[in-house]
Amino acid sequence: MKVLVTGGAGFIGSHVVDRLLADGHQVVVVDDLSTGKRANLNPGARFYEMDIQDRALAEVLERESPDVVDHHAAQMDVRRAVEDPLFDARVNVLGLLNVLESCVRSKVRKVIFVSSGGAVYGEPERLPADEDHPIRPITPYGITKYVGEKYLYFYRVVHRLDYTVLRYANVYGPRQDPHGEAGVVAIFIGLLAKGQVPTINRYPDGEMQRDFVFVGDVVEANAAALTRGSGRVLNIGTGRGTTVSDLLEAVQHTLGTRIEPHFGVARPGELRQIYLAIDRAERYLGWRPRVNLEQGLWETAEWFRRQALSDPTTH
Ligand SMILES: NC(=O)c1ccc[n+]([C@@H]2O[C@H](COP(=O)([O-])OP(=O)(O)OC[C@H]3O[C@@H](n4cnc5c(N)ncnc54)[C@H](O)[C@@H]3O)[C@@H](O)[C@H]2O)c1
Repeated sequence: MKVLVTGGAGFIGSHVVDRLLADGHQVVVVDDLSTGKRANLNPGARFYEMDIQDRALAEVLERESPDVVDHHAAQMDVRRAVEDPLFDARVNVLGLLNVLESCVRSKVRKVIFVSSGGAVYGEPERLPADEDHPIRPITPYGITKYVGEKYLYFYRVVHRLDYTVLRYANVYGPRQDPHGEAGVVAIFIGLLAKGQVPTINRYPDGEMQRDFVFVGDVVEANAAALTRGSGRVLNIGTGRGTTVSDLLEAVQHTLGTRIEPHFGVARPGELRQIYLAIDRAERYLGWRPRVNLEQGLWETAEWFRRQALSDPTTH
């Protein structure tokens, strides 16, 4: 099969690309390298450095004629979305529409659309949050991801473009950017490895809790969605909540460090608690996460250690 991965130079998209190539698919990457890295690009994939909002995207799709488009490119910085909702909407809504219009013109069979289980539900009224949980995003990012899901429904009904929506929980693993806004695992590993003090942001009435899913498991869900999960919206997480303190504890255990954290105040737009029900992904994709937090952290820490050895500037 031929698959075009948008955002294929990014943290998650690049792992998806690696896996699809290993499975024998032909892969094309479209990425503007705004947060993605050239170093993440798999040389086995043809690469187009391009903004998904660029009109020329239609020509790329026409030339490449992929069977499936796996749409990972996004503005995914929640804080930036709150500060600049216009930018967020341009990339996540207008960019998506440009992708979908190009898909229709090139007769793409299916789009895998990456949404966010951590953002669309808002502060959950029940846990774990299932796909039928009310949608009450409290950030522009959560809103634009949900709007994207609704556009997919429209394109399926009217243009017969099939889709699967994957609502990711908090994804962690090798290649996650420790300098970014997201990615508490990468941030903790980066700080602790340098002997620096991490900060735990919390609410007056308690700790934040998140669902941490390993990137390798997320990749499996994408591989399954190439042929399954037609017209479905599916949570991709672990079904388990981990407090940020417990996460820090687990990271310290992995690295063999013992550094007392600072405590800070949670920012506006941050949820207190979220973890996702995942039975539907099992039913429709035959998917379950296989990597537990301990194994996933170990693999992630190993990758950061190797990176630091190969790049002395990160010491
Ligand atoms: N990391 C998580 O925990 C998480 C959780 C839920 C959903 N997601 C979603 O997963 C996807 C991938 O996120 P990630 O964590 O790998 O982040 P990332 O920033 O590493 O990847 C995003 C990629 O998209 C590219 N990109 C951004 N804007 C673009 C544009 N206008 N045109 C072309 N390319 C563009 C970036 O250069 C980057 O390579 C995003 O859609 C994000 O919203 C991530």
